[in-house]
Amino acid sequence: MKGLSVVAEAVRASTTMAIDAMYKKMRADGLDVIGFGAGEPDFNTPEHIKSAAIQAIQDNRTRYTPAAGIQELREAICERLLADCGVSYQPGQVVVSSGAKHNLYAALQTLVNPGDEVILPSPYWVSYFELIKMVGGIPVVIKTTQEQGFKMSAEQLRAAVTEKTKVLILNNPSNPTGMMYDEFALASVADVCIAHDLYVIADEIYYSLVYDNRKFVSFVSLGEKVKERTILINGVSKTYAMTGWRIGYALAPDHIAKVMANYLSHATSAPSSISQWAAVEALRGPQEDIEEMRQAFEVRRNYIYQEMNRIPSVSCICPEAAFYVMMSLDELLGKTLHGTLIRDADDFAKVFLEIGRVAVVPCSGFGVPNYVRWSYATSLENIQEGLSRLKDFLS
Ligand SMILES: Cc1ncc(COP(=O)(O)O)c(C=O)c1O
Repeated sequence: MKGLSVVAEAVRASTTMAIDAMYKKMRADGLDVIGFGAGEPDFNTPEHIKSAAIQAIQDNRTRYTPAAGIQELREAICERLLADCGVSYQPGQVVVSSGAKHNLYAALQTLVNPGDEVILPSPYWVSYFELIKMVGGIPVVIKTTQEQGFKMSAEQLRAAVTEKTKVLILNNPSNPTGMMYDEFALASVADVCIAHDLYVIADEIYYSLVYDNRKFVSFVSLGEKVKERTILINGVSKTYAMTGWRIGYALAPDHIAKVMANYLSHATSAPSSISQWAAVEALRGPQEDIEEMRQAFEVRRNYIYQEMNRIPSVSCICPEAAFYVMMSLDELLGKTLHGTLIRDADDFAKVFLEIGRVAVVPCSGFGVPNYVRWSYATSLENIQEGLSRLKDFLS
């Protein structure tokens, strides 16, 4: 039999999903395990959003929609972005898709030719690396360190640019680091992109989950020269606790949005009409639930940051946004824990799950094999119990 596609076979399974699957299996087997793997809010979708979806079904809004999404949703996206980030787009520049992940794939398909280099600061969200390969691009990783707050400098970006560089993927705030670029840092990155004629895919899906009264600055708010080379990615999954509804969106200059919409019209036709109506309500309806969820995340962030740093042999820096914290394993590498030599995060995550009964995500797939990621999108009680298990596990 002939082989499968070389590109498809080179794609690695998502480590986040793998740990989550192991954790779910252990739970199904009746074991007392706590999960910190999931990249989704533990809150339910707010009632008024669910009601809007039910209403859409009752009203028979259940047919194909335009490929780039219903007009009402594209308008609602523009209104929300203007209100939250002060940036103005027209509905024709919006492309709605089945989740931000799908928009990222479409954005890369739209920009990248085989052999083009795509710059990716590490630690990076695992899917970027694989998505770049899936479109025939070459990922070029820029390593950032804990000392620099896991934020790439403009000098690092400049040094990584070659004749083949086409795109920079900028995830701000970041999964997995939870860190956020300020306006000055963003502007210096933008200058390099303009000087070297790079496109930017700016994934800002965590922009509303920001702590300590920090001000989020959208990359596209830096001016027209930035906007004309940027595909902005966003979605309702994280902000509105709507991961299963599968609605994400991209905002881009007209000619790029048009190509993306053409592409998606053949790939999916459009995302679910019902989810689109729910997303209209999410973006236009009351926003109080969102603030309540954000505050709950901030309380958890404070707790996990403080308590984790009280436990000997592990440490973390304070996340500024999103709902992840990266725990450094530097002091544990090369040591033996419960009979297992800890060479990297994979070893640690496995034995911590098996013996400690806690699921965390090894950051090997994120470009940093000496860290594990804890998602604090879970109750404070779970966080307390998880850290208490970590303490017992290490002592
Ligand atoms: C940085 C980042 N971008 C995009 C996504 C995907 O979001 P969606 O559920 O809209 O596909 C995630 C989800 O984990 C993410 O962490």
